[in-house]
Amino acid sequence: MADDIATPEPAAEPTPSPEPRPDPQPPILRIENVVKTFGSFRAVDGVSLDIRAGEFFALLGPSGCGKTTLLRMLAGFETPDEGRILLSGEDIAQVLPHERPVNMMFQNYALFPHLNVRDNIAFGLRRAGMPRAEITTRVAEMVALVRLEGLEKRKPDQLSGGQKQRVALARSLARRPQVLLLDEPMAALDKKLRESTQFELMELQRRLGMTFIIVTHDQEEAMTVASRIGVMKAGKLEQVAVPRRLYEEPASRWVAQFVGDINLFEGEVTAREPHRLRVSTASAGELVAAQPVAPIDESKVAVAIRPEKIRLALRRPAGDAAAINCVEGIISDTSYLGGKTVYKIRLDGGAAIHAAQANTARLDADGYGLNQRVVAWFTPDDCVVLER
Ligand SMILES: Nc1ncnc2c1ncn2[C@@H]1O[C@H](COP(=O)(O)OP(=O)(O)O)[C@@H](O)[C@H]1O
Ligand SMILES: [Mg+2]
Repeated sequence: MADDIATPEPAAEPTPSPEPRPDPQPPILRIENVVKTFGSFRAVDGVSLDIRAGEFFALLGPSGCGKTTLLRMLAGFETPDEGRILLSGEDIAQVLPHERPVNMMFQNYALFPHLNVRDNIAFGLRRAGMPRAEITTRVAEMVALVRLEGLEKRKPDQLSGGQKQRVALARSLARRPQVLLLDEPMAALDKKLRESTQFELMELQRRLGMTFIIVTHDQEEAMTVASRIGVMKAGKLEQVAVPRRLYEEPASRWVAQFVGDINLFEGEVTAREPHRLRVSTASAGELVAAQPVAPIDESKVAVAIRPEKIRLALRRPAGDAAAINCVEGIISDTSYLGGKTVYKIRLDGGAAIHAAQANTARLDADGYGLNQRVVAWFTPDDCVVLER
């Protein structure tokens, strides 16, 4: 790195994306090759992961990929069949759930319906034998933290979805765990409330300086709240990275497609130039792309380009731009989404692509219509080559 002149860097720093520097402290949580099977089914299949103290980490993956199972093992509700979980360097296999400095907020909140807000929040404190006066103070503090003042005597069925979520959050924070696990905490909220709650959760995490691990199947949510994301597929971790790297440098085709929308042109590498690969594709002819960071099987690749990185015009661009990564087709569908419009374009080669254009002006001066003929192009640096 540039500020480190004394030690020469190994050849060519592969990527400009910001990745946090390695932490000299041991991780607060170390997951070592953890496996959990149900019968012959491997719900969690050899996951290794370090979580740093104070991190807001998201586990992202489709339904059924093992996120909740992994979280339940961290909380102590399930025991790994293989591997170890270390908290601040200590194996916690023998530590019971309520004795771990880890707490979990469940997906359905799991509030006690017969207890009011105050007693729900106080439940774990009472069980831990905290003195009465201290419980009163702590509950008041938690009620203020999640802004539930005035609702202390209500039962869960007298609360809105957002208020129930806050009670669950307050209850899981009441014992001041070192690590808070949140299983799809926003799943039951409507979109607007979910967005504001995401920002509140981030603010809360910063203020408390606690380690948060959130589970979600929603990539936007993961990218909004988390400083690092682990993408899970069928019990395995596919990639762990900061949001930008996950989106711009996906490690696999599956990650590229799961995290956001992407266009793929399948083909094979025909030539290598400095920092560039030429790829012959069936649907878009010859494309030029930046070299991937890691080596790949060059006989079967796909050139991947995000919709917002494709430029559209009525005519071919002048000069060099027309010579590379330039395709033509017909607009076959348009979706106006407010901030952007997504065009589906049927290319002359037969393939369909998505191109997104930001709507930066209120008046629709440069939108394209159905069946209009357009030219689409993109730069080599904006696409990545992935193994097919
Ligand atoms: N107690 C259990 N018994 C049997 N199968 C289970 C059990 N818990 C989870 N599974 C299965 O393990 C897989 C992963 O589940 P889960 O961790 O809940 O996924 P996610 O939270 O990512 O949606 C699913 O196929 C689920 O059906
Ligand atoms: Mg789940």
